[in-house]
Amino acid sequence: MERVVLPRIGTVAAWRDAARGLAGRGVPADAVLWQVGAEAPDLFAGAPAPAATGEPRAVRLPRVAVASLEAALCHSDPERFARAYALLLRLAAGDLRWGDRSDPALRRLLQQEKAVRRDIHKMHAFVRFREVTEPGAERRAFAAWYEPDHPVVEAAAPFFARRFGDMDWVIATPVLTARFTAGGLRIEETGDTRPPPEDATEELWRTYFANIFNPARLMPRAMRSEMPKKFWQHLPEARLIPGLIREAPARALAMQEAAPTFAPARAARIVPSRPALPDLTLETLKPALDACRRCPLGACATQGIAGEGSAGGLMVVGEQPGDAEDLAGRPFVGPAGQMFDTCAREAGLDRAAAYVTNAVKHFKFAPRGKRRLHRRPDGGEVQACRWWLEFERRAVAPRLTLAMGATAALALTGRGEGILARRGRVETARDGGPVLITLHPAHLLRQPDPARRAEAREAFATDLRAVVAMLGD
Ligand code: URA
Repeated sequence: MERVVLPRIGTVAAWRDAARGLAGRGVPADAVLWQVGAEAPDLFAGAPAPAATGEPRAVRLPRVAVASLEAALCHSDPERFARAYALLLRLAAGDLRWGDRSDPALRRLLQQEKAVRRDIHKMHAFVRFREVTEPGAERRAFAAWYEPDHPVVEAAAPFFARRFGDMDWVIATPVLTARFTAGGLRIEETGDTRPPPEDATEELWRTYFANIFNPARLMPRAMRSEMPKKFWQHLPEARLIPGLIREAPARALAMQEAAPTFAPARAARIVPSRPALPDLTLETLKPALDACRRCPLGACATQGIAGEGSAGGLMVVGEQPGDAEDLAGRPFVGPAGQMFDTCAREAGLDRAAAYVTNAVKHFKFAPRGKRRLHRRPDGGEVQACRWWLEFERRAVAPRLTLAMGATAALALTGRGEGILARRGRVETARDGGPVLITLHPAHLLRQPDPARRAEAREAFATDLRAVVAMLGD
């Protein structure tokens, strides 16, 4: 048995030299015992080195193979050196083609390479330095403690040297330490493993992390997969994570309820006439809606559709503009609007005396050839648009609101239960006003059976008559 003891520092380069020499002498894979560092068990001490029984091989490998082998050698698998040498011999002998993923040994090596590359990537991302500059020192000094899964310090360190070349730093890991002093990188065995002292840099990290954290985009599962929990202990900002997660729903809600944010001034050249919010009135609502990008719908619709009509009496709220409204720029002018107008007239309800609007101000559709098929807005879109509806409610100050359909009922009351069970009921809006719930007039148009349609229409008319009665009281 031939025994090769590789140094802990420069392990990969030492393996490369040893493997080349062994292959050149024709030493078969099962005749080599690979060890790292001094403390590896010396099972075969004293045993004579066997005669080489394999073919001497000059090793010439494609560059990508060398890169993969060398990366895989940074894996923590104790058998990695022996496995890599066995593969090397097969490749050199032409028994294995590089890239043949049907070969289990090669597949395993590629998996190990992948694990190592991921570990290096994590180290680049998750090392956090604390400042340890001595008073009066010419260069600022930083230190970090980090625990990689695999011995990747040597492979990962050049990245830090390039990135932080203008300062001195030390990254200590349980086995090796990378030290960068006055522009020179050195790898050494780890001595003192005490964590570096706390200082203001920690505070800066926390501030930074709290500022880049977007509660509306919180995806704890994705966070954990990108930044597994085991790294949290070394990240100063990680202490914030549980609190940030706890507060995220409330902060996201507050963000949505806050005034819409407008694009910087230069965007005015692209989207003209955007009123400043303090100037927002029912008259300037339309251009403000045109510019709204609180949700993606505004980007596809032709225009934003503001409500229209009279303040102080009835407010009629539908779902969203349809195809006809999107083109005309007015609410309830298409087939559903005409149905509403007819039923309202029959019930003695004067549309001109009401303020007619929608829960969502842009048309949501799916293109099908030349047609644009109506798509129901989702909860996020309804929520994003509520800011506008609530502005309209403050400006109009209705005595009574008619919610037509589930979307309007949800936007006004915050409740999403089945509309059929609620129709005809008077509920309370989020702002405290009375809301009579009914079905959407498009529901009447969707009834294929004339008897059913007549029935639905009568039920709708009953609700409209109730509205007239309530307004008359
Ligand atoms: N449906 C609605 O809900 N609103 C409109 O403006 C048109 C159709």
